[in-house]
Amino acid sequence: MVEKRLFDKMKNIPFIKPSVPPIDEYFNEISDIWHTTMFTNIHSKHEKLEDALKKHLAVNNVSLFVNGHMALEAALSYFQLKGEVITSPFTFSSTCLAIMRNGLTPVFCDINEKNYTVNVDSLERLINEKTCAVLPVHIYGNVCDVYAIEKISEKYEVPVIYDAAHAFGVKVNERGIGSFGNISMFSFHSTKVFNTVEGGALTYADDKMYEHFAHFRNFGQKNRETVIVGANMKMSELHAAMGLCNLRHINSCIEKRKNCVNRYNERLIDIKGLHLNQPQNGVVSNYTHYPIRINEKEFGETRDSVFERLSRHDITTQKYYYPLVSNMAIFDKNPSNYDTPVADEIAKQILVLPLYSELTIEDVDYVCKIILEHQ
Ligand SMILES: Cc1ncc(COP(=O)(O)O)c(C=O)c1O
Repeated sequence: MVEKRLFDKMKNIPFIKPSVPPIDEYFNEISDIWHTTMFTNIHSKHEKLEDALKKHLAVNNVSLFVNGHMALEAALSYFQLKGEVITSPFTFSSTCLAIMRNGLTPVFCDINEKNYTVNVDSLERLINEKTCAVLPVHIYGNVCDVYAIEKISEKYEVPVIYDAAHAFGVKVNERGIGSFGNISMFSFHSTKVFNTVEGGALTYADDKMYEHFAHFRNFGQKNRETVIVGANMKMSELHAAMGLCNLRHINSCIEKRKNCVNRYNERLIDIKGLHLNQPQNGVVSNYTHYPIRINEKEFGETRDSVFERLSRHDITTQKYYYPLVSNMAIFDKNPSNYDTPVADEIAKQILVLPLYSELTIEDVDYVCKIILEHQ
C-alpha cells in the first residue's frame, strides 16, 4: 500500500520513448521473410523502404545504412577529401567523429542564436585553401540557411554534406530538406522522430552515387572479384521492416508531438528568462525536440539547477549539446582556437525537455509546473 502511494506520487517522464507500431503489424510485416529467411543482404524490405522514403522525403535517391553515423562516414569518404571540414560545435560528437575517422580536421564555426544552426558569415570567414568540405547540422528540426550555404559552396567549390540526423521529413519552401547540398545524412535511431531501431540513410540528387554506396556499404564489393575500400554498413531486412511499419504512422506521430509543442509554448511563452525555439519561415518542422534556453539572471536560476530539480522529480531532460564538441579534448586540445561566443553561451543555457508522441498534455503540464516551481 505504502509502495503504491509512493509510486503514484512519482510521475516518471523519460526524455524520449521510441515510436513503435502495434506489435501485430510488425509480425505481419516480417512474416514473409520468416519463411524465406532472407534477413539481410538487401532484399524486398530494404528496397521497399528506400522507395517509400524517396517519396516521403521528396528526394531523388536514398541509400539505407546500418546507422546514421556510418552513413555520414560513407558520405564524407565519397569525395576522397584531404584537409579541413568546417562544421558546427553545437552537435552530437558523431558529426565530428565522422570527420576525424576520414582522416580530416574539424574546424568549428559559430552558430546563430535564432535557430542554433551554423552562422553563415562565420562559416564563410573560416574558408581557406585547406577547406575541402562543409558539414552543417540541421538541429532540433531547425534548418540551416540552405540558400546561403548553396552560394558559398558554389563560390568556393566545396561540397556540402548536411548532418540531417534531426531533420526527418522537414521541408523548406515545400522542398525536402534532404534535397539540399551534395548529400544529407538522416539518423533512424530509436530516439529519432522516425526510427528503424538502429539505422540511417543518405539522400542526394546525383544518381551515380547510388551504385557507389551500394558497393561501399557491402564490404566495398563491386562483384565477387573486385572490391573498393568499404565496410559492412548494410541495414538488415528486420530493421527495414520496422521502418516500413513506423512510416505508416509517421504523420500522426508528428501531429501528437506538435500538440505537445503547442502546449509547452502556451505554458512557457510569457516566462521571463526562458527563451523558446522560434518557428522558421517557410519551414515545416518535425517537432523532434523541444529546447529551451534559461537565462540565469532573468529566470533567477541556472540551467543546471532546473535540470537537477526535474531529475529529482523523475523527469529526464538533456543538456543537448553541452559541452560543445570543440571543448572535448579528443576533437581539439586547444579550445581557445575557436571563436564561437554564441555557441559557448547557448551551450551553458540550453535544456531539451521531454518530447515524444506518447507524451500527454498532462505530462507537459507537469514538466512545466516543476520548471516554474521556484518562481
Ligand atoms: C546530430 C547527430 N548526428 C549524428 C548522429 C548519429 O546517428 P546514429 O545514432 O543513427 O548513428 C546523431 C544521433 O544519434 C545525431 O543526433
